[in-house]
Amino acid sequence: MHGGAPKGHPHQVPGMKGGHGEGPGHGHGKGKEGGEKIWTPRLIAWELTRSCNLDCIHCRAAARFGPYDNELTTQECFDFLDNVKSFSSPIIIMTGGEPMLRDDIWEIAKHGTDIGLRMVMAPCGFLVTEETVQKMLDSGIQRLSFSIDGATEQSHDDFRRVKGAFASVMTAIENCNKMGMEFQVNTTISKHNLHELEDILKLVIKLGAKAHHPFLLVPTGRGAELKDQEISPEDYEKTLSWFYDMRDEVPIQFKPTCAPHYYRIFRQKETEKGIKVTPETHGMDAMSKGCMGGQSFAFVSHVGKVQICGFLEEECGDIRKEPFSTIWDTSKVFKEMRAWDDYNGRCGYCEFRSVCGGCRARAFAFTGDYMDEEPFCTYHPSDKAKDARDAKKAKKAAEKDK
Ligand SMILES: C[S@@+](CC[C@H](N)C(=O)[O-])C[C@H]1O[C@@H](n2cnc3c(N)ncnc32)[C@H](O)[C@@H]1O
Ligand code: SF4
Ligand code: SF4
Repeated sequence: MHGGAPKGHPHQVPGMKGGHGEGPGHGHGKGKEGGEKIWTPRLIAWELTRSCNLDCIHCRAAARFGPYDNELTTQECFDFLDNVKSFSSPIIIMTGGEPMLRDDIWEIAKHGTDIGLRMVMAPCGFLVTEETVQKMLDSGIQRLSFSIDGATEQSHDDFRRVKGAFASVMTAIENCNKMGMEFQVNTTISKHNLHELEDILKLVIKLGAKAHHPFLLVPTGRGAELKDQEISPEDYEKTLSWFYDMRDEVPIQFKPTCAPHYYRIFRQKETEKGIKVTPETHGMDAMSKGCMGGQSFAFVSHVGKVQICGFLEEECGDIRKEPFSTIWDTSKVFKEMRAWDDYNGRCGYCEFRSVCGGCRARAFAFTGDYMDEEPFCTYHPSDKAKDARDAKKAKKAAEKDK
């Protein structure tokens, strides 16, 4: 994907190719010379319905079959897409729950396509037949993502808590391959499948996926009950290092998602090898950032609530009350996400804060404050870094007082 450059960048998602991305190269927007940065959404995860035909043990949305009241109407969906397109051109991930449980899913996808948005979808598997893949192609959907959380039927079905879930994904993928629909695979990692990671990666390659994105468990929704399934910060560090080692060994894009300090590890390892990370040498990787929530990424819920991502349930606005564009520009939480010098603890002064940022959702799950430091990072930034950050903040404050 990036020629000789290392593969992957944070949150690269279904449908992202070459010039599309979600890293700071995009996410920080076009910095005005000496002025304020312009922040542009590059990727929006849109929970079109919370209804779901699975019952996954870790589900951030604690989704059930539903139906759920008060979900966005077709017209509200069209209006949202029009508003997004009026000021930006992000990739729209139609997700859920199971997005295909909405009757108007093809109309919504087609509307997005018609106005020039790149529409991608995250279905659960059961509903992906030859007939529905054809509907996806007709409505312009460009890529799907499937979740595979175990290397075997037993392990995946135990996690997804529905018998036949694994088989349904295999059939769905067969249909995609037959019909020419691109797909990627996401895997949520916790203790239950840490030992299976290598086998899952092999399976994903064998199935013909374009990319494999391992997600690190965020203890929210039903996932909050999985405290005993969280891997330790030390194992986390080892796993992220393994990801780094694998990135050039596999023929597809392999990129950890919602594991921001992977980008710290990536920089450290390249530096150890004497390699300078620049856009010329590393393409998108050099411009990418670990957590992009509120910076180039946003989440919109089934009832129109806006969040920095699906894993941090802190309302930043409501598209039924004001346009998404206004929320994007004015939300207090979004602004806080963009000011990483003000993050608490190590993440606020770490040398790697502008490429990592720590997971705000994990911080929130642990302390109740999304500005706190990432609880799963073992890195200790230097005192020098802290002094430099403090001096920078003092200078800024003085300039403001002038
Ligand atoms: C947009 S969701 C896809 C929704 C889709 N219904 C599914 O689960 O396959 C993307 C990924 O987030 C994962 N996910 C859900 N809850 C999570 C949690 N608490 N921590 C980490 N990943 C989670 C899902 O397993 C999925 O692979
Ligand atoms: S807060 Fe965490 S889960 Fe949300 S986008 Fe950032 S890294 Fe991902
Ligand atoms: S201290 Fe925070 S910003 Fe630094 S590497 Fe760890 S998680 Fe990232």
